[in-house]
Amino acid sequence: MSDTGVKAQIKTVTVHSRNREETFNLGKVFGETAPDTGTIALNGPLGAGKTLFVQGLALGLGIPSNTVNSPTYQLVHLHEGRLSLCHVDLYRLEGSEAFDGLGLEELFEAQGIAAIEWADKGLEVLPGARLDLSIDYAENDEREIVVRATDIGHQSWIDAAMKSGHFIQEKS
Ligand SMILES: Nc1ncnc2c1ncn2[C@@H]1O[C@H](COP(=O)(O)OP(=O)(O)OP(=O)(O)O)[C@@H](O)[C@H]1O
Ligand SMILES: [Mg+2]
Repeated sequence: MSDTGVKAQIKTVTVHSRNREETFNLGKVFGETAPDTGTIALNGPLGAGKTLFVQGLALGLGIPSNTVNSPTYQLVHLHEGRLSLCHVDLYRLEGSEAFDGLGLEELFEAQGIAAIEWADKGLEVLPGARLDLSIDYAENDEREIVVRATDIGHQSWIDAAMKSGHFIQEKS
C-alpha cells in the first residue's frame, strides 16, 4: 500500500557546498525560484555562511547582493526586488521580551520573502510554514547545508530550486 499523504512528500535535502560561490549560488537559485510568499529560517554557527546565502537569495530576487549585510544595530532590513525581501538577524536579540515592539509577526505575514538569521532565537514568532536551512562547517572551506520544508508550499520551493540548480545532493 502506498502512502500518498502530504506529510510523506515533505523531505529534507542536504546540499554540499565546496566554496563560497556554491553557497551564494544556492541562495541565488532559491531567489530565482521563490514563490510570492515564503520564509527561510537560517541557523548555523558564526561565519557559517548565512549572510552569504541571503546575499545570493537577494540577487536571485533582483536585489543587488551588496546591499545585504549583517544587520548591526538594526535587526530588520527591507529590500525591494521582483519580490520584497525582509532580512532579519536575531543574533543580538536577548530574551523573548526583546520581541516587543519589533512587529516581526506582522513583517512575516506580509507578502514577499523573509530570511531570518539565528532564527532559533525567534522560534515563537516564526511562521509555522517555512524552510529551515542550517549550515554547518565541513572540511576545509566546505559546508553542509540542510534544507527542510515544514509544509507542502515550501517543499515545492525546494523542488523548484533543486531542479533549476546543479547541486551536489547527499542522500538522507
Ligand atoms: N563554502 C562556503 N560557504 C559559505 N561561506 C564560506 C564558504 N567558504 C568560505 N566561506 C566564507 O565564510 C564566511 C561566511 O560569512 P557569513 O557572514 O555569510 O556567515 P554568517 O553565517 O552570516 O555569520 P554570522 O553568524 O556572523 O552572521 C564568508 O567570509 C565566506 O567567504
Ligand atoms: Mg550573518
